[in-house]
Amino acid sequence: MLAKREHEKNLPALLEQTLKEAKASEDLEGIDYIAVTAGPGLEPALWAGIVFAEELGKKCSKPVIAVNHMEGHLFSFLLEEAKPVEFPAIGLLVSGGHTELVSVESFNKYEIIGKTRDDAVGEAFDKTARLLDLPYPGGPKISKLASISRERGDEDIFKFTRPMIHTEDFDFSYSGLKTALLYKTKELGELSTETKERLARGFEDAAIDPLISKTAKAVELYGAKTLIVGGGVSANKYLRERLTTLSEDLGLDLRLPTQELATDNALMIAVAAFANLQTGKERIPQTIKAEGNLKLG
Ligand code: KG4
Ligand code: ZN
Repeated sequence: MLAKREHEKNLPALLEQTLKEAKASEDLEGIDYIAVTAGPGLEPALWAGIVFAEELGKKCSKPVIAVNHMEGHLFSFLLEEAKPVEFPAIGLLVSGGHTELVSVESFNKYEIIGKTRDDAVGEAFDKTARLLDLPYPGGPKISKLASISRERGDEDIFKFTRPMIHTEDFDFSYSGLKTALLYKTKELGELSTETKERLARGFEDAAIDPLISKTAKAVELYGAKTLIVGGGVSANKYLRERLTTLSEDLGLDLRLPTQELATDNALMIAVAAFANLQTGKERIPQTIKAEGNLKLG
């Protein structure tokens, strides 16, 4: 519940500061809509945002659009470059709670074609970081250690099994990799900095290979011209490099958010609301409900 109270405490000050930076007035003059995340996520935290947005909407007589958090990630690349998208596209969404492959026919027509059967890839980064005594969020720290080992050209590489890499579907699994890391760290005992770097690299290789191979397979099957990537893990340097190579090899237009806008932010929620308005898919219910398990589609 701490998250909920923290949100309630921070929201008024955040709004004040944002309006000041945007040189907008307190009554939101010149602003047409308010966008708020309705799900998925922790419901108490979602409610804090929804109640705040609805009160603001009433006070300023502005409609409030309910946005899907994952749609925010899917559209966050538009913040980087607003050039037209060539469809069909494949979307790869990688965050702390989700790992999904999405077939995107157009801005308002898409469906999930594969997902993780257990842990999300970001969660695997965070759990591996904890095993290596690194603080949350683990992704950026693991990435840094792994790149030290890669740049040093370590040859004695820890090789973990690539989960589900050869299955015919577009699903993923990350809980086995987490367990493999747990056993390996137990076996090794005290970990030197260099061993941690090599472990991080072994983990990152095993975590990212299935993302690349399943994405390639999906691109081929769906005849995609564009590859859209989003979610906190899309800030990962090595993943971005692998996606760049893949896109060059397959002649794809790769659309990624900047590293700063890959992780959760409010701009992506605004851009998803904007995309929804453009395609007539906006949801402006009388009252918005927090939907912890809200699905994409
Ligand atoms: O999308 P996000 O900000 O929040 C959720 O919706 O979950 O994603 C957070 C996840 C965390 O698991 C975090 O460790 C991971 O994204 N992450 C990264 C990197 N930056 C954030 N994972 C790998 N490499 C990174 N550079
Ligand atoms: Zn997110």
